[in-house]
Amino acid sequence: MSSRAVRPPAPPATGSAPTGSSPVVAITGASGALGRALLRRWHGQGARLIALTSSDTPLEIRDAQGEPLPLRQVCWATGQEEALAPLLAEVDILVLNHGVNVHQQRDAVAVERSLEINALSAWRLMELFARVVQQRPADGRPRPELWVNTSEAEILPAVSPLYEISKRLMGQLLSLRALDLAADLRIRRLVLGPFRSALNPIGVMTADWVAGEVLRQAGWNWGLIVVTPNPLTWVLMPLASLGRWLYFRALSRPAAAGAP
Ligand SMILES: NC(=O)c1ccc[n+]([C@@H]2O[C@H](COP(=O)([O-])OP(=O)(O)OC[C@H]3O[C@@H](n4cnc5c(N)ncnc54)[C@H](OP(=O)(O)O)[C@@H]3O)[C@@H](O)[C@H]2O)c1
Repeated sequence: MSSRAVRPPAPPATGSAPTGSSPVVAITGASGALGRALLRRWHGQGARLIALTSSDTPLEIRDAQGEPLPLRQVCWATGQEEALAPLLAEVDILVLNHGVNVHQQRDAVAVERSLEINALSAWRLMELFARVVQQRPADGRPRPELWVNTSEAEILPAVSPLYEISKRLMGQLLSLRALDLAADLRIRRLVLGPFRSALNPIGVMTADWVAGEVLRQAGWNWGLIVVTPNPLTWVLMPLASLGRWLYFRALSRPAAAGAP
């Protein structure tokens, strides 16, 4: 993977960031279709925004009135997740949303890219965030939340074998590690159907509608957020989650106290 230096957090880019008790929300894949839509929706809820992006291009996102969103743009790169530790100490809600789809490719580079971006970097960020929140002082902040955007490709075909493999790996790792990490983090799994973006130009939903629905369902306070027109996902995903929970809980155990 190419690696780029992670820049230190920059000051708010534009406008005046909300202060006080509004949550600090950091979103990876910020320049993508859903990343932008989620940032807009969170802005509407008064959140302080951190846009985590692998791109060097300055990110300008405007609200419905055409005003630029006040946000901090922070550049990161897969393989350099640890550099985000000081930043994550400020974060209340981390949304892991970055992803790629290599479609019909199956060469070694495509395998590495898919696994690294869709699964391993997200898994490393998940572990890092859990460690950071465990170490930060209890200062009356709300329980930190980790949102992981897997995809319904976790359980259904997505006409893209490596996309399915990498998203399934991420989904399974999330189920496994949630058994321990849920002690410190509120974990929410986003299972989304097809929406239009660079990753999927023929999606049937719009990213904006999906983002609105994600935040609406977040208000139900469930761990699973499903946005899709496919009824199979609504039936199969809770069953898959329950099956994994039972299986992983029965056949794995947490680290012994004091173990590294
Ligand atoms: N579109 C769909 O039908 C669909 C359905 C279910 C789930 N999803 C999931 O939704 C998420 C957002 O996808 P999207 O549809 O909005 O696609 P998108 O517009 O292509 O956005 C994906 C973003 O991921 C980031 N990314 C790409 N390569 C990266 C790399 N090497 N390192 C770090 N970040 C990288 C980029 O944002 P930055 O340049 O800002 O880093 C990119 O814009 C993905 O996880 C995707 O799998 C999509």
